[in-house]
Amino acid sequence: MNTTILVNGAEHHLDMDPQTPLLWVLREQLGLTGTKYSCGIGECGACTVLIDGQAQHACTLPVSRVSGKEVVTIEGFQGPLADTLRRAWLAEDVAQCGYCQPGQILSAASLLLHRPDADDHHINTAMAPVLCRCGTYQAIRRAIHIAKEEYCHVTAPICQQSPSLPADKLCGRDGLSVEHRPASPAKPQQTG
Ligand code: FES
Ligand code: FES
Repeated sequence: MNTTILVNGAEHHLDMDPQTPLLWVLREQLGLTGTKYSCGIGECGACTVLIDGQAQHACTLPVSRVSGKEVVTIEGFQGPLADTLRRAWLAEDVAQCGYCQPGQILSAASLLLHRPDADDHHINTAMAPVLCRCGTYQAIRRAIHIAKEEYCHVTAPICQQSPSLPADKLCGRDGLSVEHRPASPAKPQQTG
């Protein structure tokens, strides 16, 4: 069966069993080996990718289910949020063996896209599906807090990349929460 998928901004036309896990398509067909294979049964999170901005396990996701959606792997994860997370990861020296880290970073990205005000509880919940045998959890939590402050409250318009974000969760480039942001100037009235 023919399937077309969009991965890291590029369309790929595939002729394969639609039940083939996305993980194998990424690794074997497209050569995107940054998405890791570990348990293969949705238990470890090593294979986490972004599907329309949501972190999901690629090992249990049939390729037919991502048709029409945007898949982002660690290789294609670029832009201000990616840069900010990578800087924070380096600042906290997070990676040990590194095997779980693509899944960790993409899970953190999904979290900050949907909860730019994430606290420790949100972080623990969002990151729980990605296991780390090297025990980098504390460093990951610190790095996410750093990234959150830099990206959401200082540098970049995370909320503008997340149109589905509730208004009370938006923060501005100016670092002000919605409650403290000055009211927008009134629009000029149309005449004639
Ligand atoms: S390899 Fe997919 S969750 Fe473990
Ligand atoms: S850094 Fe080694 S498994 Fe997470």
